[in-house]
This record gives sequence, structure tokens and C-alpha cells, in this order.
Amino acid sequence: MEAQDQPNSDQIAFWNGDAGQRWVDDQEAMDATLAPFDEAAMEALGVPKGGEVIDLGCGCGGTTLELARRTGPMGRVLGIDISTPMLGRARERASAASLGHTLFVNTDASTYRFEAQAFDCAFSRFGVMFFDRPAAAFANIRKALRPGGRLGFACWRALAENEWVTLARDVALRHVAPLEPARPGAPGPFAFAEPAHVASVLGRAGFTGITLRPVDHAMRHAGEVAEIAATMARMGPASRLIADAPENVRGRIVEDLAEAIAPRHDGKAIDLAAAAWIVTANA
Ligand SMILES: C[S@@+](CC[C@H](N)C(=O)[O-])C[C@H]1O[C@@H](n2cnc3c(N)ncnc32)[C@H](O)[C@@H]1O
Repeated sequence: MEAQDQPNSDQIAFWNGDAGQRWVDDQEAMDATLAPFDEAAMEALGVPKGGEVIDLGCGCGGTTLELARRTGPMGRVLGIDISTPMLGRARERASAASLGHTLFVNTDASTYRFEAQAFDCAFSRFGVMFFDRPAAAFANIRKALRPGGRLGFACWRALAENEWVTLARDVALRHVAPLEPARPGAPGPFAFAEPAHVASVLGRAGFTGITLRPVDHAMRHAGEVAEIAATMARMGPASRLIADAPENVRGRIVEDLAEAIAPRHDGKAIDLAAAAWIVTANA
């Protein structure tokens, strides 16, 4: 197979490059910031004690470890990801936490040959919006679930509702030209912003009983103002704008970002609005 024919090749390059390394470097802060969303998705999914669970796009493994705590040692959790650096961190953490009933596989969840009908549920925290062919990817995932199995994941609502991106983007746009707008539904963090699109993708993949529940949480960024501004410049879609700018311009963007967030700093942290869907479905 030619490299360009490989599904999701852009995402594989992206998550094995600077973006993956940034997630490793910021893993602790990211886990703390995103925790309210995985908590909501795990509650909606219902993780059975002794259950067998897949963590799709598990990244640095924070949610895989939490799923493993919930299943207990009689269960098992399979973390799947395409990012070598992020999986490296996930494996280190599982070993440090002595959670031997976790297994991590470096592979594309859209095409991986899962054991058929072997899992009770599939979970994801913001790891399933990146497939070139989402309906085919979810059909593949569904084959891994037992009859009666459940899918539950968190994905972002519209970009305009997510201040953690728009604030940094708007500051960056004072200094750099905008990127081409992505086509609606294109692989990326906001691919599943439209509920009708999510329902259509999952329906075509064979899932039933599809529900989407809006969940809003302030994303809490702890630390000094300058430190938070630097982290925000590395996060999410705005980071692409900022990372591509010349170094002196990048410096000015981070300074302006610090100025923009300073009035909202409560001495310890700032809160930025974040809006997600908690999606559930039956296999
Ligand atoms: C936004 S990050 C979220 C990581 C992790 N779930 C978390 O919340 O910390 C998206 C993750 O999805 C992974 N990913 C993207 N496309 C994938 C695919 N086709 N198969 C498996 N993982 C994928 C990326 O490598 C990345 O780790």
C-alpha cells in the first residue's frame, strides 16, 4: 500500500509529530483540565466491574487507567492509539500504577482487527473525531462489541462555543493570517459538532439508541499567567496558527495572550468555557 493510500495518514503524521510531544509534555495539566468530560462520559457509558473495555484514541492513557480502576483487576482495558510518544507515556503510567490489566496497542482504531464481539464497551475522550471515513471506522469498532455492548464518548461542540480555542485564536489572528476554513465534518477536533452528522455516522455504522447530551464545563488552567498563556498557545487548533508563525511573532502572541487572560486570573488559575457532547449508543 502506498503511504498516501493509508487511511488517516495526515493524522498519523500529526499525532507523531510536535502535537503528540506537546500532549506528552502537558499530560498532567491536560488530564486535570479534561477530567470533568471523561467523568461525564464514563458515567453515561456505565463501566461494568470486571468488564472488558476499549479506550479509543487513548493518548497518554489517563482515561485508560481510570477505566482500569473502574473495571477492577478482573476486567481488562485495551488502549488504542496511533501516536508512539503518547502511548510511550501511557505504558509508563500503567506500569507505575501497577495496572497490569491494561494493554496498549499502537494502531489505527478505524482498521484494527479487534477480537470480534469481545468487549462490553468502547469509550473515548476526544479521540474519535479524526477518522477520514468515520462511518467505516465506527462499523469496525462496533464489530469488537458484544451484542448489547455500549459506545460512549466525549467530543467537542461547535468551535464558537469553545472559548479555550477562540480566545487564543482571536489573539493569534491579530498577528497572523487565518487558516483555510475546514469543511464541515472534516477530521479534526470539531468534526462531530453537528448532532445530525454524529447520528448519521453512528447510524450508518450500525449503532442504535444514539443520544447526545450537551455538557459545559469551565476548563481550569492553573498556574501563573505567563505559564498559562504559553500552555494555551500549545493547545488545540489555535496552536497550529501559532506554531507556524515566526519565533518573534510567536513571542508577541503569547505576550498578548497573557495580557488578555490576566484580568480573569483569580490568583491561582483561569477558567475558560468548554462545550462538549456526551454521546452514547448501543452496538
Ligand atoms: C485530542 S487527543 C485525545 C487523547 C486522549 N484521549 C486524552 O483525552 O487525553 C486525540 C487522540 O486520538 C488519537 N487518534 C487520532 N486518530 C486515531 C486513529 N485513527 N486511531 C487511534 N487513535 C487515533 C491521537 O493520536 C490522539 O492521541
